[in-house]
Amino acid sequence: MRRAKRLIPGGVNSPVRAMRAVGVDDPLFVRRGEGAYLETIEGDRYVDWVMSFGPLIFGHADPETVEAVREAVGDGTTFGASTEREVELAAEITDAFPSIEQVRLVSSGTEAAMSAIRLARGATRRDRILKFAGCYHGHADALLAEAGSGPATLGVPATAGVPTGATSDTVVCPYNDVVAAAKAVERYGEGLACVIVEPVAGNMGVVPPAPGFLETLRELCDASGALLVLDEVITGFRIARGGAQERFGIRADLTVLGKIVGGGLPIGAFGGSAEIMSRLAPVGDVYQAGTLSGNPLATAAGLAVLRRLRDPAVYEELERRSRSRPEEQGPRPASRRNADALFQQGVRPRRKWRGFCCEFCAGVGVRYDPLRRVLPAHARTGRIRAAFAIRGDVRLARARRRGDRPDAGGRG
Ligand SMILES: Cc1ncc(COP(=O)(O)O)c(C=O)c1O
Repeated sequence: MRRAKRLIPGGVNSPVRAMRAVGVDDPLFVRRGEGAYLETIEGDRYVDWVMSFGPLIFGHADPETVEAVREAVGDGTTFGASTEREVELAAEITDAFPSIEQVRLVSSGTEAAMSAIRLARGATRRDRILKFAGCYHGHADALLAEAGSGPATLGVPATAGVPTGATSDTVVCPYNDVVAAAKAVERYGEGLACVIVEPVAGNMGVVPPAPGFLETLRELCDASGALLVLDEVITGFRIARGGAQERFGIRADLTVLGKIVGGGLPIGAFGGSAEIMSRLAPVGDVYQAGTLSGNPLATAAGLAVLRRLRDPAVYEELERRSRSRPEEQGPRPASRRNADALFQQGVRPRRKWRGFCCEFCAGVGVRYDPLRRVLPAHARTGRIRAAFAIRGDVRLARARRRGDRPDAGGRG
């Protein structure tokens, strides 16, 4: 770690990996992973409750994914020209999401969200966007906005390095607050290009949408002419094959995808109706591009995963495992079960192993605790970052309430 800190800012290539939020001074350095487990360079073995923050629905080194990538790599890793797998992956995505007629592949969720916003602005010829506090959409400037002084105010930069001008067209409202959203649309609606939202908030604990929240956003968009952008980077292919749109029956104008779509390799995607998507270059006037977009290895891995997700039994199994853990939670309402399915692998550690459990599901009062302890009441709401189970002893490393901060939201 000392060497890493000398060579890499903070020793990590994404802030959350520093594990400061869970009170760790020397974060894990991983040597390898297999299934539900990962092994550090020191040889410690952990149950991995993080799964790279979402992409690995079949666990580490999933044999089918590994084989698909192995097969692809021998044919070349990037061409700067189109490949068949890009079309096949697009077909998997459009088949799963009825609201997506056309999709463009990019290399990360950040890029997908940023591009979707640009497309929404280009298609509507409007500048303003509305986002919700606590929702993370990657680290594009316009989306790193914090709420100002009121419930529906123009945003201010949430981090150094973002100019005020970049967030001055970003309106920020509290999540699940339909009144604030309606007021914002009333006030800024004519200039509103889009409303972007995590349909199940996964970056401030797991917060399911309040009944009527997503439906109201749909109506507000229809009334104002703004586009509804559902950021399904976490929920897509996770809480259902067709994401939150399928689960909650909401139609998106644009959908942002990432994580699972690449089967653990770098990918992002955004899509919508052919009409809107045709505004993109080279057909339309909204520029967007990427040297490694639709990369052969990422599309191979994505296909190896998405094709198996056609089988409804996979989601039944996710729900089953989610329900079975942990028993002390007692009966749970369906909405919470759905949210649970976001992050679970469902494998209990052997007692002699150290279990690593980085948690982010406190928004609904749920935690996954391999050794079945119950969180302190104060920790059941707000943002719990982690619980560690170390050699048979469970301790809550640190439970923190955190605000809408970019370093709190960024995954991976
Ligand atoms: C909902 C959501 N959108 C966008 C992103 C950004 O994706 P990436 O980290 O691939 O840039 C994330 C990352 O966790 C996310 O959770």
